[in-house]
Amino acid sequence: MPTHSFKLNGKQISVEAEDNVRLLWVLRDLLGVTGPKYGCGIQVCRSCTSHINGKAFNPCSVPVKDLDPTDEVTTIEGLPATVGQDLHPMQEAWLKYDVSQCGYCQPGQIMAAVAKVRQAKAEGRDLTDADLDELRNICRCGTYSRIREAVKAGAEDMGA
Ligand code: FES
Ligand code: FES
Repeated sequence: MPTHSFKLNGKQISVEAEDNVRLLWVLRDLLGVTGPKYGCGIQVCRSCTSHINGKAFNPCSVPVKDLDPTDEVTTIEGLPATVGQDLHPMQEAWLKYDVSQCGYCQPGQIMAAVAKVRQAKAEGRDLTDADLDELRNICRCGTYSRIREAVKAGAEDMGA
């Protein structure tokens, strides 16, 4: 079986898997990293949203063979370490606004939100309502209005 190597939450890892296995299954089933959730498997629900090289992506749609040893994958488990804290400011905002209901979609929501704020920061501008409209992660529990409030608060705490 082929061996694949990449950085996961700050550590270089190697894992054996067939080339075409999607990264979501490698993370969840082979590496025990279960923050990224399985919803649709076809890049629609975005419950698996994580970061690759700092940007949002959906590991349900990436074959593990496409990762290079230098690629850095960050899941919700590794998000706090990116700011050297116990919880990332976006997670703190989530708690403050009591966003989660069943919680299933929420890791993906937070990872999408952080990536969106980073994107606005990189472009040297404030987060806008249009940015919030672009967050299309599905929540069956309908927590969307609380998500918007939390993302705005989290963005401020991220300095955006
Ligand atoms: S499981 Fe990845 S987008 Fe739905
Ligand atoms: S909190 Fe239940 S699916 Fe979003």
